[in-house]
Parts: sequence; structure tokens; C-alpha cells
Amino acid sequence: MELIEEIKRRKTFGIISHPDAGKTTLTEKLLLFGGAIQVAGAVKSNKINRPATSDFMEIERQRGISVATSVMAFEYQGLKINILDTPGHQDFSEDTYRTLTAVDSVIVVIDVAKGVEPQTEKLVSVCRMRNTPVIVFINKLDREGKDAFDLLDEVEQKLGLRVRPLSWPIGMGQRFRGVYNLYEHKLVLFNPHGKQEEENVIEIKDLKDPQLEKQVGRMAAEELQSDVTTVEGVYPTFTREAYLSGHIAPVFFGSAVNNFGVKEMLDCFVEIAPIPLPRHTEERDVHPEEPQFTGFVFKIHANMDPKHRDRIAFVRICSGRFERNTNYLHVRQNRKLKFSNPTSFMAEKKTVIDEAFPGDVVGLYDSGNFKIGDTLTEGEVLHFKGIPSFSPELFRYVNNADPLKTKQLNKGLEELMDEGVAQLFTRDVDGRKIIGTVGALQFDVIQYRLQNEYGASCTYEPVNLHKACWVSSADPKALKEFLDRRKRDIAKDKDGQLVFLAESAWTLKLAQENHPPGAVPLYE
Ligand code: G4P
Repeated sequence: MELIEEIKRRKTFGIISHPDAGKTTLTEKLLLFGGAIQVAGAVKSNKINRPATSDFMEIERQRGISVATSVMAFEYQGLKINILDTPGHQDFSEDTYRTLTAVDSVIVVIDVAKGVEPQTEKLVSVCRMRNTPVIVFINKLDREGKDAFDLLDEVEQKLGLRVRPLSWPIGMGQRFRGVYNLYEHKLVLFNPHGKQEEENVIEIKDLKDPQLEKQVGRMAAEELQSDVTTVEGVYPTFTREAYLSGHIAPVFFGSAVNNFGVKEMLDCFVEIAPIPLPRHTEERDVHPEEPQFTGFVFKIHANMDPKHRDRIAFVRICSGRFERNTNYLHVRQNRKLKFSNPTSFMAEKKTVIDEAFPGDVVGLYDSGNFKIGDTLTEGEVLHFKGIPSFSPELFRYVNNADPLKTKQLNKGLEELMDEGVAQLFTRDVDGRKIIGTVGALQFDVIQYRLQNEYGASCTYEPVNLHKACWVSSADPKALKEFLDRRKRDIAKDKDGQLVFLAESAWTLKLAQENHPPGAVPLYE
């Protein structure tokens, strides 16, 4: 198949949700539709059993699972759909954020009873920054939950998205009768505990059609008619362009566990979701149909076997055709590398592949060459933009608990930071090391992995910090003044970049005011 044909049949997306909203269940139903798995429960059985307290075995198990579920691909209606996992549980980390740089669109799952929860807010804000197209799936309509209009208001306010329902629920919980598909003008009837079947879909072009009342009863029919009139009056008309530019998020209602409303959404997704998009680099924009291969590393996962220090680097292909056993330029190291076992992931299966195309993710076995954000090309020097380092929110001092293992500790810390597990800062005044993360579990993961993989042990100590902001300035005088004044709060990250460690929101605000952005910008 021609490159362009391969590109046109690919859709790469991520599912965002707060824990328990139904991401795993939805993923599984999607894979079932695609025939990638045969039985319900296949993804579930891989599912992280969340421990109440951190348990080392559990950490190890989770890491195994997170490799297995990093990318799940399936074929549907002649398309190749890649689902990239955005872990949303306790293992919420920078990886979760970074995965969003490797997708072309997202589906946000919201629990109808719980509404928008904080983790979803954070992740969607990253999508908004990048104008990533978003589809919203409101789940668990078989349970009592919030009023649909209230919920959509909440989505608009908390997620900052303009929404447009493309389906509308008829009742909920005990009274849930189904959804009316506003996109295709079809009534889809809910059959609890059953599989959604073809005969449950009834075409009703006009809501005044007596069929409607016959199917759902008079009260529900009247409620639906009135709701739909409101929907049409309140929400903007749906256009694919508005969705693709990130301006409107279509909304579907359903119940993932009952496989209800999932096909509706999937069928719309395959129609509207973007194919692999151009990506920005510092040098120029890279278009997927360019014949020369380019890609970037968005995630690194250490191998599970501590005896083998190799790792898997996950590369998103941005343009051209990636081929096995071919020399590619590792731009940062300025040297050629070739890969004999590039791996692709199809649901539960791992396979060595010969080629891959834009939108795909390949796993490359690596013995320490890669860092997050690294670029591979056929020779051109490019640096992909927007692979962010997220400003950590949780900080602890890290101390060496075994002076005889200092070398191991330093090496371990360095490699784990390359993997993007967390960020390490070394404070200028006293040389103390501080670890910053976006998720609490990362501290346990680091401690455990240092011990298991490097034979080093560390302890933590609380440190009172609010935020780490990268400092840079084109004005050396202003920069020097800033650094002199803020000496105690200055540290370096692992690449030697200057970082301002703000003790509180107040000190940060003060620093920003005293040193206006033009002179010494502080990047969060
Ligand atoms: P997550 O990956 O986002 O954390 O959520 P997950 O799919 O694991 O779903 C969380 C719980 O919600 C699961 O129940 C799942 O069965 C349930 N669930 C998912 N979709 C629906 C739905 O449409 N309606 C209802 N009522 N429940 C739904 P669990 O008890 O944690 O697991 P299990 O015992 O069902 O396996």
C-alpha cells in the first residue's frame, strides 16, 4: 500500500478519564468491536489492582501492565486505530501527560454521577493547549447521575470546552431507555445486561413520529422532544472543522459496561477523528506524507528484568515509512542506530514488525541511548516541539542511605530521570538533591527501582516547595541580579538548566512581579 493510503487509514488517540470512570471498560469494548480481543475481560484481567498502600509487588506488576497496555491497536472498518494508554491511576505521572503529545485526538470519559474530576481537568488542559480534538463520552447512564444539561455546563466550565451533544439520553438509572442519536437521527434502545443489537436501533427522523412514544412511552417521549429542542437552541451546530480545530467537543452518552452507546461513538469517531497530523519541530513543520521517516520518543520504559538494563523507547512515527534494520539518525547523539526488533503492540500481542507508518507507535529496545523527546530521522536535524517537561507539584529531598553505593544511586537516579519517571533538581547553595513528581506513587516507584535495579537505597525527607520554574533570560544582567537575589531558591535540573524553586504561590508571584517576564521569564 502507498504511504498516503497507510496514513489515511490511521487514527491514533488516547482515552482520558479519572480512575473508575470506565476507561478500561470502554477500551475493552472498542477492542472487541475491532476483533482485537475475543472475550470481555481480557484488558480487565490486566488491570491494575489498586493497592490501598503501596506494595512493592504491586508496583512491579503495574509496570508490567503499563508496558502491555501502552499501545493497543485494532482494525475497524478498514482503519488501523491506535489507542495510547494514558495511565490515570495512582501511577499518574509525567508519562500520562507526555502521551498526549503522541496522539492526534482524545476521548474523555466522564462518570455521569461524579461529573468532571480533577485529573481529567489537568489532562484536558494539556489537550486544549495543543488544540487536540476531543470527544466526550458520558458513561454509566444505567445509574442515577447528574442532569445532562447540568453535566454539560460542568464540562464547559471545568474543562473549558465548548460542547455539542451528538446523542441525548432518554432517562437514566432505572428509567434509562436509551439514547437518541442526533447525528444520524436514530433511536437506540437500551436493553440492560444485553448486547446492543441491530434491531434496537430505530430510525426516527422526526421526534413527532408516533414510533417514539410507542417505543419509550409518552412521558419519556415528551421529555426527549423538549430536551432536543433545548439542545438545538443552546448548543452550536456541529461541524467537523470546529471539532478538528479543537473548538467543539461532541458529546455521547452511554454505558460502557453494557456496551451501550459505544458503537455509536466509535462509528462517529472513525468518521470525524483526524488522521495523523503534521507535527511542529524547531526547524519546520513535518508532514506525515513526507517520504522520509521521522519520529520522536515520548515514553521510555525500563525492562522488567533487572539483570538486563535494556529499556523500551516508545516512538511515535510522524512521517514516512519506518523500516526494520535500517540506519536512522539519533539527532541528539548525532549517530546512526538501527533496530533489529522494533515491536508493535496489538492488544495483548507483541510482534516484531518490518515497517510502521505515521500515527503508529513502535517500541525500540534500547540500552540507554534514548531520552524523552529524542528525535530519529533519515539524516535531517530536527527537534520535535511540545514534548513538555511538566512542572512537578510534589517534592522531597532524596538522601543516600548507603554511602558505599553512591555511584549506583547517582547512576540510578540519572537513568530513571531519563526515563521521565520524575525530575531531579540539585540546589545550588547546599548541593542537596530534590525529586519532583506529578504523582505521589512515583516516590515509591523510584525508591523501589533504585533498590531493585541498581542496588542503591535512598530515603526521603519533606521539603516545603510549591513549584519548580525554569529560568532563562536573554538579558545577562537581569539574570545575574535574579540569581543573586534568589540564591537560596536556585537549583539545576539534570541537564544543568537553571530552575527557580518557589516555596509558595506567594514567593512565585513575588518573583514574577519583581522580575517581569521580559527580563527573566519563569517557565512552569
Ligand atoms: P477505569 O479504567 O476508568 O478506572 O474504570 P473501569 O473501566 O475499571 O470501570 C470502573 C468500574 O465501573 C468497574 O466496576 C466497571 O465495571 C464499572 N463500569 C464501567 N462502565 C460502567 C457503566 O456503564 N455502568 C456501570 N454501572 N458501571 C460501569 P468495578 O466494580 O470496579 O469492577 P468490576 O467488578 O465490574 O470488574
